[in-house]
Formats: sequence, structure tokens, C-alpha cells
Amino acid sequence: MSQQRITVVTGGALGIGGATSRRLAADGDLVVLNDVDEAATEKACAEIVEAGGRAVPVIGDVVDDAVIERIVSTVRELGRVDVLVNNVGDFRPASKTFLHSTPEQWQRLYELNLLHVLKLTHALLPMMVEQGSGAIVNNSTVEAFRGIPAGAPYSAYNAGVSAFTKSLAVEVGAHGVRVNAIAPDLADTPQTSAEAMLRGRDPDLVRHWIPLGRFGRVDDYAAVIAFLASDEARFVTGHTVPVDGGTLAASGWYARADGKGWSNMPDTP
Ligand SMILES: NC(=O)c1ccc[n+]([C@@H]2O[C@H](COP(=O)([O-])OP(=O)(O)OC[C@H]3O[C@@H](n4cnc5c(N)ncnc54)[C@H](O)[C@@H]3O)[C@@H](O)[C@H]2O)c1
Repeated sequence: MSQQRITVVTGGALGIGGATSRRLAADGDLVVLNDVDEAATEKACAEIVEAGGRAVPVIGDVVDDAVIERIVSTVRELGRVDVLVNNVGDFRPASKTFLHSTPEQWQRLYELNLLHVLKLTHALLPMMVEQGSGAIVNNSTVEAFRGIPAGAPYSAYNAGVSAFTKSLAVEVGAHGVRVNAIAPDLADTPQTSAEAMLRGRDPDLVRHWIPLGRFGRVDDYAAVIAFLASDEARFVTGHTVPVDGGTLAASGWYARADGKGWSNMPDTP
């Protein structure tokens, strides 16, 4: 029997991270599950154990250095780390426009979206390098690749996550460590619930909005993270894979709700 993988998932209780920790535990990993929400963490760990898996909670804000230290010491006690999923990120605090935003908001967005990714990776990478193996999967966003109004700092820091992914992959490939990312869009999660995204809009618009015609379910994202973390992706490194139902491919080419033409063609009747 092969050795059980030790996997760290940040923000592993709810949303995309919640589905990822459950999926990787079901696949056989021991999951070190970090999350700031104590009740949700306990629930996630209990569900994993109930399903026959293994999970060790590390409750706390991953932006906090002391929490990063606790994740690292938990991993050291377990003796190795095979997979790191840097999942935590948030578009909030959001501002109506960049001009309305404040340096305090940019600082918080920087800490929530980029800084902890560097810190936790920096703290765990030496173990992977020493082992000569490891897979890191970061959670970026499609907004790293296209413009989004009211989200310039969030977009900039996530472009940083994807650039970090690329450059680190080049640096650590020779040590057997792979680094990839996913770029989600339109996930139905507590942060961006389908209900909130649809508020005031006609649900029929969804099929004109998202090429695959529906919001993403958390399992859709966890499946791609699980693939990138697995040996099936052994020759894939340095990439950010969009998991977006086709929105990035469609870019500005949104179908009109009346089915006649495209929203970015002003001459379409
Ligand atoms: N939802 C989307 O459509 C979407 C789109 C693009 C990118 N993303 C990215 O995917 C990732 C997950 O998004 P989601 O929608 O599942 O988020 P979510 O807010 O629904 O869930 C996040 C989870 O992380 C935990 N968490 C939040 N801040 C934390 C912190 N500082 N320390 C530890 N735990 C923390 C929460 O308690 C929760 O369990 C984020 O990086 C986000 O930017 C999501």
C-alpha cells in the first residue's frame, strides 16, 4: 500500500475549499484543514471522519503568522507534506470603484489574496524540496486575466497569484515539486451565492451569461484541484486552469438574452 498523502487545505471548511478537503480526504489523503470558521471546521472534519477519512483541524485566520506556524508544526508532527492547496481568497472588502477604495482595503485584499499564499508556501516548500516531491495548487480567479469593474486590487493580487504560480513552478520543478492554480468563475458558494448573483435578474439569463448554462457547483472546482494535485497531472506545472463554465473563453462575447446575436456587437438588432 502506498503511503497516505498529507494535504493542507486553507479555507477548507466551506465553499470551494470545503469541497476540496472533502474530495481529497475521500480520495485517501489525510487533510490538515485550516479555516477561520470554528463551527464549520469542526463540521467539515466530523463529516470527513464519518465518511471514513482523516482530518486534522487548524482553526484560525491564515493571514495571521501564528496560524501559519501552527499549520507548519502540525505538518511537521505528521512528518511530511505532499499537497498544499492555497485556497483562501476574497474579493471583499469591495468598493464601488477604485477611486472610492482606500489603502486599508487594498492592504486587506493583499493579505487575503496574495501575501498568505507566499508565506505558507515559503514555510512548507522546504519539506517538499527535501522529500523531492510535492504539488501546490493555488486558487486564483478569471479576473486575473480579464478586466473587472470594482475589483482592480483583487484582480491585481490574483494576477500575482497566477504569476507566482508560473515563476515558482520554473524554480522548483527540478526538485520534483509542481505548482499550478485554478481560476474559478461563478461558483455557487457562501462568498458568491447564485442567489445573490441572480438577485433582481431573470434566471433565464444564466444560459446567456455562462456558456455551459449554469453556475458552478463546488465539486466542479474540487475535481480540477484534485486532478492538478494528483499524479495524473505529473507533467503539468506552471499553469492556471480556468474552471468557469466558459466565461473566460466567451470574454466579451455574451449572447443576447433574446437569442439574437451578441452583447458586444452594437449593430446587432
Ligand atoms: N466563488 C467564486 O465564484 C470564485 C471566483 C473566483 C475566485 N474564487 C476564489 O476561490 C477561493 C474560494 O472561494 P469561495 O467562493 O469558495 O469562498 P468562500 O468565502 O465561500 O469560502 C471560503 C472558506 O475559507 C474560509 N476563510 C475565509 N477567510 C479565511 C482566512 N483568512 N483564513 C482561513 N480561512 C478563511 C471561510 O471560513 C470559508 O470556509 C478564493 O480564493 C476565491 O477568491 C472564487
